Amino acid sequence: MSSYLIMIGIFDSGIGGLTTVRALMDTLPGHDLIYFGDTARTPYGSKSRETVIRYAIENTEFLIERGATVIVIACNTASSVATEVLMEKFHIPVFEVITPAVEMAIRQSPRHRIGVIGTRGTVNSGIYERLIKAQIPGASVFSTPCPLLVPLVEEGWFHRPETRMIVKKYLHPLKVRQVETLILGCTHYPLLKAVIQEKIGRRVRIIDSSVAVADKISRFFIDHPDLDRAVSRNGNADLFVSDITDQFEKTAGTILKRKVVLNRV
Ligand code: DGL
Repeated sequence: MSSYLIMIGIFDSGIGGLTTVRALMDTLPGHDLIYFGDTARTPYGSKSRETVIRYAIENTEFLIERGATVIVIACNTASSVATEVLMEKFHIPVFEVITPAVEMAIRQSPRHRIGVIGTRGTVNSGIYERLIKAQIPGASVFSTPCPLLVPLVEEGWFHRPETRMIVKKYLHPLKVRQVETLILGCTHYPLLKAVIQEKIGRRVRIIDSSVAVADKISRFFIDHPDLDRAVSRNGNADLFVSDITDQFEKTAGTILKRKVVLNRV
């Protein structure tokens, strides 16, 4: 075997994508990971398609320069507009968070009534609905943008009454349509999973895209034992961001459930 090493590089518009890092750490313990959070240019959810694509290319170049040979787009907004461009431009495996969540939701929705929440960028792109209907043309897909949830998570307002009230209001239209599954189509929403579950109802299955993509990547390595043997496994996670504040470090620590050191680039 050559000295070629497989290393997973993950990027997001900010620190929310650390939910995917956490899911990968749980699913693929020991894999070396390198993360880039574009905290200086966040949020992506309200930016144009062209801008998000440009940022996604730059982020991928950064990760490849640092040794990444597999790319994971943890950001739903970037996944929805930049995946094809990255696949064409960089000839390495590129994973995004949307397809795995769609596949998981379809498996768990026997009546094909699926709810989706995300940023305006993701919801307006219509990607979840398109991918679900490509597989199940008669599916009923109900999507709602929840733009206030990202800032609430970044403020650490996980259990505040204001957050509970806003979640309830956003989820009301999906609840009355009796969705069976609810896709959390944004990096930050897994951190509000408990309140989301409470407000949408106990019977609705929550689909966490960070868990879905980690599951898909783990199956990819099982299917490609040659690549699996070349994985760099020292249990390192290098975390880079384009801007640092105390609040970013605090939220990053909450997501990874440990004290983290962010490196500014
Ligand atoms: N990372 C983004 C996403 O998953 C949420 C934050 C943002 O708008 O940049 O869509």
